[in-house]
Amino acid sequence: MSNWTKAGWRQLPRVQMPEYPDAAALADVEGRLGAYPPLVFAGEARRLKAHLAKAARGEAFLLQGGDCAEAFKDFSADAIRDTFKVMLQMAMVLTYGAKVPVIKVGRMAGQFAKPRSAPTEKVGKTELPSYRGDIINDLEFTPEARIPNPEKMLQAYTQAAATLNLLRAFSTGGFADMHRVHAWTLGFTEDDEAEKYRDIAARIQDSIDFMEAAGIGRDSTHEFSTVEFYTSHEALLLEYEEALCRLDSTSGNWLAGSGHMIWIGDRTRQPDGAHVEFASGVLNPIGLKCGPSMTTGHLKALMAKLNPGNEPGRLTLIARFGAGSVGEHLPRLVKAVAEEGANVTWVCDPMHGNTIKSASGYKTRPFDSVLREVKEFFAVHQAEGSVPGGVHFEMTGADVTECTGGVRAVTDEDLSDRYHTACDPRLNASQSLELAFLVAEELTARRNGGSASAVRAG
Ligand code: PEP
Ligand code: CO
Repeated sequence: MSNWTKAGWRQLPRVQMPEYPDAAALADVEGRLGAYPPLVFAGEARRLKAHLAKAARGEAFLLQGGDCAEAFKDFSADAIRDTFKVMLQMAMVLTYGAKVPVIKVGRMAGQFAKPRSAPTEKVGKTELPSYRGDIINDLEFTPEARIPNPEKMLQAYTQAAATLNLLRAFSTGGFADMHRVHAWTLGFTEDDEAEKYRDIAARIQDSIDFMEAAGIGRDSTHEFSTVEFYTSHEALLLEYEEALCRLDSTSGNWLAGSGHMIWIGDRTRQPDGAHVEFASGVLNPIGLKCGPSMTTGHLKALMAKLNPGNEPGRLTLIARFGAGSVGEHLPRLVKAVAEEGANVTWVCDPMHGNTIKSASGYKTRPFDSVLREVKEFFAVHQAEGSVPGGVHFEMTGADVTECTGGVRAVTDEDLSDRYHTACDPRLNASQSLELAFLVAEELTARRNGGSASAVRAG
């Protein structure tokens, strides 16, 4: 750790990163990014870490969500507002169920680089390099579009900065004021979740009215009128990450200035690889995706490398095994954590283990599988005596048809209607809110000492 440098990853094996054909153009972009202001500050990253430490103890709950891949063409104030709004609604529902603060972290303002399962993609007889996210190359299926272009890092930085600026404005400028809890329902159509949400909103409004009438919170309306909202992304493109690394003068530690929380993907978590090395030296909270191939040996090595001081809140383990497989993999990892006496925050990503190809040819995720994985995650923690600390979703505020199922029953045939994702299928606003209610049920049952499924069965 002490001899860590922000460029140290360059000496180690790397996977899933582009080979830039023009080294001079790359160096020029790195130089320019290196002189730009960081997007986030060390104090914010530390504050998020303290919140995540609480989530590890069951005193808070993480809601992390957003696009699989942010795209340049989908960049708009409305898109940012809609995702932010759905996350606030979900957080409200979760807070109501969990009775603990919900930590809101967007997969936003930096989620531009994608690991791919294959290095090339074939359409008909044509084979081209895979699309790797807008920060690297273009989705368009032409040889030119797929050449990695370093200039795209500058556009990603600009989009991230503007996104973060709007998120900060929404968080503190009145939009997120809890007195407006009803206003957030505008735009709902009449379905079950809308009704349930209005019911919770009315109860919250009642509680606020009561407290204010009693003089509680009158002087601290701040608590009700602003929210903390953090950003996160997969730290995949290390040239970009290194260029935005900044020394925090108050602590003498390095900050990944590209976002509050960064995570290591399931394909780039080699304990001796470049991505783990980079993440090991920055002070931000770090997420680590844990898929079926994660052994207890890997996990122990990764915990030692990423959190040698066993600092609470530093390491979030994001389980993504797939419905039906959680019981096979999660218990051994939970036991490995216990054996090491490690402080970690356990989070469930019920998206990445549940991707299938639909009969209509689209990549999709059945809502039922997503929900089932969440339930299995809660059940394992209940059995192991460990703490479910949060959830991680690919979702959008837009009314897309990318995942099947949900109360509004998106079918295989519907997928072609509004399938807009640049990468993996996302839950739409209605499915996201429905899922929040179901997670809230799990959290309520847990507070009452059981699992929701068990309670229902009884
Ligand atoms: C992702 O979160 O978009 C992703 C690629 O996840 P994973 O590394 O878990 O596959
Ligand atoms: Co994804």
